[in-house]
Amino acid sequence: MQPFPSDQIQLPRNMIENSMFEEEPDVVDLAKEPCLHPLEPDEVEYEPRSSRLLVRGLGEHEMDDDEEDYESSAKLLGMSFMNRSSSLRNNMSVYRQSSNGSCSLPSTRTMVVCTVILVIAVALIMVIYLLPKCTFTKEGCHKRNHTIELIYPLATNGKLFPWAKIRLPSDVVPLHYDLVLQPNLTTLKFSGSVKIVVNIIHVTWKIVLHSSGLNITKATITSAGGHQEKLAEFLEYPLHDQIAVMAPEALLVGQNYTVNLAYSSKLSDTYYGFYKISYKDENLKQRWFAATQFEPVAARSAFPCFDEPAFKATFLIKIKRDEKLSTMSNMPKKATTPVTNGIVQDEFFVSLKMSTYLVAFVVADLKNISRETNESLVSVYAIPQHLNQVEYALNTSVKLLEFYQNYFLINYPLEKLDLVAIPDLQSGAMENWGLITFRESALLFDSHTSSARDKKSVTAVIAHELAHQWFGNLVTMEWWNDLWLNEGFATFMEYFAMEEIFPELHSDEDFLNLIFKAMMKDSLNSSHPVSSAVQSSEQIEEMFDALSYIKGASLLLMLKHYLTKDVFQAGIEVYLHNHKYGCAQSDGLWDSMNEITNGTLDVKKLMKTWIVQKGFPLVTVVRKGKIISVKQEKYLYLVEPENWTSDASYLWHIPLTYITSSCNFTHCTNAYLLDQKSAIIELPEEVEWIKFNVDMNGYYIVHYGEDWKTLIDLLKKNHTALSPKDRANLINNIFNLAGLGKESLEKAFELIDYLNKESSTAPLTQALFQLSLIYNLLEKKGEQQLASRLMHRIERLLGDKIDQQSWTDDGALSQRELRSMLLAFACTHDIRNCRTTATEMFEKWVNSNGTIRLMQNSLEGEVIRTQELSHIIATVSQSLPGYLLAWDFVKENWEKLTQKFHLGSYTIQNIISWSTSQFATKAHLMEVKSFFESKSEQSSQLHSVKEAIETIQFNIQWMERNLAMLQELL
Ligand code: BES
Ligand code: ZN
Repeated sequence: MQPFPSDQIQLPRNMIENSMFEEEPDVVDLAKEPCLHPLEPDEVEYEPRSSRLLVRGLGEHEMDDDEEDYESSAKLLGMSFMNRSSSLRNNMSVYRQSSNGSCSLPSTRTMVVCTVILVIAVALIMVIYLLPKCTFTKEGCHKRNHTIELIYPLATNGKLFPWAKIRLPSDVVPLHYDLVLQPNLTTLKFSGSVKIVVNIIHVTWKIVLHSSGLNITKATITSAGGHQEKLAEFLEYPLHDQIAVMAPEALLVGQNYTVNLAYSSKLSDTYYGFYKISYKDENLKQRWFAATQFEPVAARSAFPCFDEPAFKATFLIKIKRDEKLSTMSNMPKKATTPVTNGIVQDEFFVSLKMSTYLVAFVVADLKNISRETNESLVSVYAIPQHLNQVEYALNTSVKLLEFYQNYFLINYPLEKLDLVAIPDLQSGAMENWGLITFRESALLFDSHTSSARDKKSVTAVIAHELAHQWFGNLVTMEWWNDLWLNEGFATFMEYFAMEEIFPELHSDEDFLNLIFKAMMKDSLNSSHPVSSAVQSSEQIEEMFDALSYIKGASLLLMLKHYLTKDVFQAGIEVYLHNHKYGCAQSDGLWDSMNEITNGTLDVKKLMKTWIVQKGFPLVTVVRKGKIISVKQEKYLYLVEPENWTSDASYLWHIPLTYITSSCNFTHCTNAYLLDQKSAIIELPEEVEWIKFNVDMNGYYIVHYGEDWKTLIDLLKKNHTALSPKDRANLINNIFNLAGLGKESLEKAFELIDYLNKESSTAPLTQALFQLSLIYNLLEKKGEQQLASRLMHRIERLLGDKIDQQSWTDDGALSQRELRSMLLAFACTHDIRNCRTTATEMFEKWVNSNGTIRLMQNSLEGEVIRTQELSHIIATVSQSLPGYLLAWDFVKENWEKLTQKFHLGSYTIQNIISWSTSQFATKAHLMEVKSFFESKSEQSSQLHSVKEAIETIQFNIQWMERNLAMLQELL
């Protein structure tokens, strides 16, 4: 059952499981000759028209009115883009939000706010849904023509475009860009010119590069000598975001040429490219801010460029601006010179060799604080009224930067590192080299009003983005199929660095919860290998999912434990050293690790089984005396007869770990590499119990068969014989097995009977998560009676524990998190008098200083921004009154949503997942299927759509399998 979607959704389509072994397809060079010859039909690669191109650039700020409504409840919710806290927390906890935009801790007081949030959010969605101004209401919604249009590569002027592939040809490579930009924050337009020095690898007459939505007015080519600048014809092919600059003469191998392009465009009103943001200053005056978000494929909408990660080059950036504003870019400022009245030009130093998606600039009125470390100046920037909340970020960044430099043995290579709080950003943060952008809530921290949980999330985001300065920026994945090398590594380093520097934050338990959720996605047939072939923008965007981030990171965690800390660290150093200022594929990483293992272990052979196969293994253990038989098979939610043969052929090399009753401390963890379908492990002596996958450092689920009984008894008698993470792992595994029908739900309930003695957050979180899944399904299925019997059972189990929680905000972080989780659960489900206490406290708070903040907020007009929309939908869709409403809202506003957030993007993945995850009936299954089928082909092909459909099927199956048992049990 998967009624809770995981934090991120799926998947590029057309992926080929063994994509890593695939060669890039041969490119079609239609312009080897100076004059274009007509194409034979089969020389052309036919592509369906991209819906993304159709929606791009539609009306600016159409969402503004709605944004305002969205913002206030999202701020109260304090959620961030990645929504990385557990679904349970997401569903149940509340975060305090300071008036100045930073997120703060879930406290007792905010628990109160929690109870009203859901109501506010439902009300907001209803209001928005009913607003007549919505252009996509029932009447206003027009279906698109979904006929797949097969096209010739015809340029916009009707001539044949000389290139038919999505990927750029490799016969011309960029070396250096000179980029001059002049944004106008009054007209909200910008003009620019770019000079690109290119080197010719194969003789050609054309230079094909990316450009999207730019009005190009002039193109010239200058040869190596630089004396003869010649006008060049250029052709535009918007379907692939490409232009071709046609050379007046053959471009010779080994020579450098300079392409010069002049253009203009509008500052974008989406979250991509060079985009504008409106905010209110201290005097409540509306101001504009311009910033960039280029990853993965939006640099091309700010300047014509070779917008693929492997085309690294150096960049010299100049920005003309109003003398009252300031600008920032990746590199430190070199000079400021006057241009005309009131306009000056900032010039930045030439960058290191880098990918286009990491280029960044910001034009705004910002203030900062700075500190020098190891010859780099670290600064944190925010709008002036938020400057008092940047100190924590500065201290944390300096600590983390020093940690990474020591761990990787490579210094941060730039003279400065800026961290900038941006008032509106789709993602939580973006790792642009030297100029990291953050959502305000992901960077600002107010020591008076923010919570310990805020501290944790600010620390995590900084740790993640700083790790990218090495993994991603210094060494970049060669192509987006290996995005996990960026995101999986940054996620792994984020948790590793947090554990090393801030052990008191217990971030490893948060990571555990994320792994559980990533596995839920990965057990669907619609999952994909971590490394998967991708081409189109939608497919690339879809790579930003739980598999690249969380599965990628947990595979590294598994490898680290298997290789040992030191060997793993040495392997990383070799990898960074071998590929710095260049690119890498997954194999490059394994080769570096193999340099260290030096023939004793083939890391590549082992890790390939995890990277190129989707899913993960279910390991079944049978114990007879000293003999333990282990066997592996593919873990699957829905077994589809047509996949039987292929499913049976899956084989992983699993570094099994186990502890036993004779030695159950971490230092005596045993390891066994299961690289066959089955094997026998002989223990030195007979043991009372055995627990596999120690602390869940491995990416697999274990079925103990008869031995579940032994483990259930162990937990009852002496649960502390196992670590909290092991206990959470057992709870997770048994409920998953019950969902598959491999174990009885009765046993699963029996296993959690020990919980009244439990005081650790991880197992309680996991148990409440699993029980909430069941509760939500029952409730939405109309089984109210059964749902309330389940709630009584939970009360019998945890009621005392909930009652013991004080309504205060003191104690250690883990205590506060536990309190927050239990009380949020109680208030959400209206048990243990929680809502009465919460309402009383809320009223008290409103009558005291709470009103100051609310009024201030409304005065500032800083209500909900569109960046928070997916979280509002998530919250609304979990409640009984809200779940149908949320789905209706998504249907009615689909075009608008995909226009603002782009098809395939992380936000769209989340929206699809949350708004459909509670359905468990055939009628809903049909409804969801036919809705997406009625949209563009790109929509129905999204992996997140396939995942949503499979999840509903699984929910239906779960109900059929377990309803009778639940009737008996509860
Ligand atoms: N590189 C990503 C930002 C990004 C995400 C760009 C999706 C394009 C598409 C960045 O490093 C990232 O992962 N940010 C996370 C926060 C992080 C702590 C996991 C985010 O935005 O939530
Ligand atoms: Zn990242």
